[in-house]
Amino acid sequence: MNKRTQSFEYEWFESADDLSPQDRELLQAARDALSKAYAPYSHFQVGAAARLEDGRIISGANQENAAYPMCLCAERVVLAAVESEAPGAVISALAIRVHSAKHPVSEPAAPCGACRQVIHEKEQRQRAPMRILLQGEKGPVIALQGGKDLLPFAFGGEFLL
Ligand code: THU
Repeated sequence: MNKRTQSFEYEWFESADDLSPQDRELLQAARDALSKAYAPYSHFQVGAAARLEDGRIISGANQENAAYPMCLCAERVVLAAVESEAPGAVISALAIRVHSAKHPVSEPAAPCGACRQVIHEKEQRQRAPMRILLQGEKGPVIALQGGKDLLPFAFGGEFLL
């Protein structure tokens, strides 16, 4: 037996003011997308915005359903929207913002496990990682280099050959 360690580096910004204009723009697009959320059950809105390689931004938000397991997370909504609007386009960055009607969210919220899996598949398809930006309603911003940092030991299509 030998012990192995896996670690990763990420960026932490005390304020969005310290980000590049491009990153700030994408976080604002995710913030704007909160208005597209349909979250009458959780009252927790999630907005996601994807920047494509050509600079275009596509956004989406969570869509809930009275049959709770049918709820669609913002991340998967936006990834599906990209494939609909720009099939096969490479996503260079993905920003995620959240808002709760019940309490202020001043910490970044990370994608759920299912969304991490779908982000991983998209990165595999496009053969490139996407920068991932996370921010609450305000406050600090986390920037990750790609989905693999959120999902180590990911399952992927290579096992199904
Ligand atoms: N939600 C997302 O949109 N993304 C996530 O990664 C976590 C959760 C949504 C689903 C549901 O509408 C609400 O947040 C509460 O779970």
